[in-house]
This record gives sequence, C-alpha cells and structure tokens, in this order.
Amino acid sequence: MSLDQILAVIPPGSPDEALARQLNFDQLPSHVAIIMDGNGRWAARRHLPRVEGHRAGIDAVRDVVETSARLGIKVLTLYAFSVENWKRPKAEVNTLMLLLKRYIRAELSTLDRNNIRFRAIGRIDELAPDVQADLALGVERTAANTGMLFNIALNYGGRSEIVDAVRRAMASGVAPADLDEPIFSTFLYTGGQPDPDLLIRTSGEMRVSNFLLWQIAYAEIWVTETLWPDFRRRDLLEAVLAYQKRDRRYGGIKASPVALSAK
Ligand code: FPP
Repeated sequence: MSLDQILAVIPPGSPDEALARQLNFDQLPSHVAIIMDGNGRWAARRHLPRVEGHRAGIDAVRDVVETSARLGIKVLTLYAFSVENWKRPKAEVNTLMLLLKRYIRAELSTLDRNNIRFRAIGRIDELAPDVQADLALGVERTAANTGMLFNIALNYGGRSEIVDAVRRAMASGVAPADLDEPIFSTFLYTGGQPDPDLLIRTSGEMRVSNFLLWQIAYAEIWVTETLWPDFRRRDLLEAVLAYQKRDRRYGGIKASPVALSAK
C-alpha cells in the first residue's frame, strides 16, 4: 500500500490529495486505535433518535477501514462497545448489536477481497450467541489474509483485559519470576500485535475511557471535535500528519547528535 493506492480513490485537486502528498510513508503509525465518540450528539443535533447516530457511524467505519488499508497501516482497532455500554437502554444495545451483525454480513466480502484480517477483542464469550456466530464467521473467513489486521473491540474494557491476561498467564504455568512486560503482553487480547502508535478520539472528549490501557502507554493521542459519524478520510489523514510531526521520546531524550554530544 502506498501513495498510489490512496490517490487512486481521491479526487484530483482535492484537499485530501494535498494532505496525502504530505505524508511520509516510511513513518506511518503501525497501529491506529480509535475511540469512536459523538454518535448520540450527532443524532441529537438533527433531532433524531440516538441509534441514528450509530447507524450513520457505520459509514465512517467503512471509510476509515478502507483509508487505513490503502495507506498501509498494519493494525486498526475500533472501540465499538465497552463493558460499561451495557448500562445503556436495552433498545440501544440491541440496535448496536444488530448494526454490528449487519456490518459484518455486508462488508465481509470486501474485507476479504482487500486481504484484511478481521478480529474481535473483548469478552466475546459474553455476547449473544448470534453475535458470536457472525463474529466467528468474519474471523474464520479472513484468517488467512495477510494485509491489515482490523480489530473491533466489543464488550471490551482495558481493566478487564488486564485481569483476563493475569488469569491466562497464571493458567499457562509461567513462573511469576519469569513474567516480564514482553511476556505479559502476549496474554493480552492483542498479544503479538504492535502497540498503538496513534490513539484518535472523536467529539472532543479528553479521556481514554478504559481503552487499551496497557497498550497505549506510549501512544500519541489526537483528539478532534469532529463527531464520529462525520469522521472521514480527511480527518484520518490529518491525524496521521499530526502524528508524524510529534517528537516521540518514550521517556528518553531526543536522539539528536547535538543532544548526545552535549552530555
Ligand atoms: C459512542 O458514541 C459510540 C458508540 C458507543 C458505538 C460506536 C458504534 C458504531 C459506530 C457502530 C458499530 C461499529 C462497527 C465497528 C460496525 P455515543 O453514543 O457515546 O455518543 P455521545 O457521547 O454523543 O452520546
């Protein structure tokens, strides 16, 4: 994937083209994680029921999955349903599950054709059997694909993921003295995947909301006022460009020859 892949779907002369041409394809974030927020407010502004915001959010999901894959991002993780979201009205929860099932059924062939590997992360075994069945179908159909890995976080909580990882580590028989950070991370739902380099949150809220708590230790955070249903390719390109201007230090100092020789 490359500049050509993304330009193939961008109208020539558009602002998106100008943004895409500024990208450094050697410094893409390997893993982009997104907290999709603002569906309810998007609907409220239009005097629509909240679920219409979720429905409109599916278009944003499609756009972001396609753009990420074309850019060459290796892992995309979308936060679709948290362990706390069960507190919402039953009708809203049911609609979210229905939208998810419809999305998988409608998009599976496209994901597969584009070599995208689909995964669901979270306490999946607590979801309704019909939802689990559709998720399993998506995972199985795309298991052999080698392109972008697309994680949907469902019934997901960062703290419950860490608890689950501790349980799995204990069950594996690994000796406590042998447990270090790299080994522990293999027991997370995202075991074997790179940590997110870029965490995007829509709708302007400055919170991480129990999302990938272990994995975002060094992620760059980019927050936009755009509500999720309005989020499109341009927003993602802006986020990646902003990421590429950040100075990532991982707790150290900037590794420039000047800084090192002055020590
Ligand atoms: C947050 O907005 C959004 C959600 C809890 C659900 C996101 C789900 C989708 C976009 C649809 C299904 C996803 C996939 C991947 C098929 P909110 O309702 O909290 O908005 P508010 O803060 O404005 O009330």
